[in-house]
Amino acid sequence: MSRGRFITFEGIDGSGKSTQARLLAEALAAEGRAVHLTREPGGSPGAELIRRLLVEGAPDRWSPETEILLFTAARRDHLEVTIEPALEAGKTVVSDRFADSTRVYQGAARGELRALVDRLHEMMIGCEPDLTIVIDMDPELALARGLARRSGEDRFEDMGAAFQHRLRDGFRALAGNHPDRCRLVDGNRAEAEVAAEVRRLAMGLPG
Ligand code: ADP
Ligand code: TYD
Repeated sequence: MSRGRFITFEGIDGSGKSTQARLLAEALAAEGRAVHLTREPGGSPGAELIRRLLVEGAPDRWSPETEILLFTAARRDHLEVTIEPALEAGKTVVSDRFADSTRVYQGAARGELRALVDRLHEMMIGCEPDLTIVIDMDPELALARGLARRSGEDRFEDMGAAFQHRLRDGFRALAGNHPDRCRLVDGNRAEAEVAAEVRRLAMGLPG
């Protein structure tokens, strides 16, 4: 049995990641592939518990260092319990966010912590996706979409428009630095149009 492919979606809040991750998983399943759709923070029972600590409450609830540890703990559990077993079973894993979110969000909040993020990733996670779809879009439009949902999980969205602009720049830079696995996709288009481009990129993946 050959190992499955690992595909992640990244981008600012409200850019359409969850929608596109779901549409891609549906399209792959319709082709007869075994697919596991998952998300971060979360994606395993333990990581979903950690998620609640991260996305609810006041923006200054955790120090930036503690927050990085919580995201990394959640990811480690997600990897052990969900992602690795699915890849080993030959499934395509589609994840709404992964390690690039920590690089960009926690790096944008406090730039000097990027080295800590990278060290923890190397020590505790140590793997990268085969393909990362970075959905790029104007933060004002994305924020309007996101806040329209008000889910009680708005701790990060509450950090404001300037922060979202730094995040967009961070994701664009990251895509430029990892051309081997990252593809930048314009998210400010109709859902179906974005989905068609995402499908083409995912189908081009070997295996
Ligand atoms: P994210 O996971 O990046 O936060 P979502 O997929 O949850 O984004 O989308 C945020 C909101 O925008 C949802 O209400 C969703 O239905 C809507 N949405 C997603 N994609 C589009 C699109 N291409 N055009 C307009 N609205 C969209
Ligand atoms: P998510 O549920 O994907 O939010 P959205 O659907 O609004 O994009 O993620 C929750 C928040 O957690 C989101 O604002 C991004 C943030 N986040 C980080 O700051 N670092 C991380 O490593 C991850 C995975 C998410």
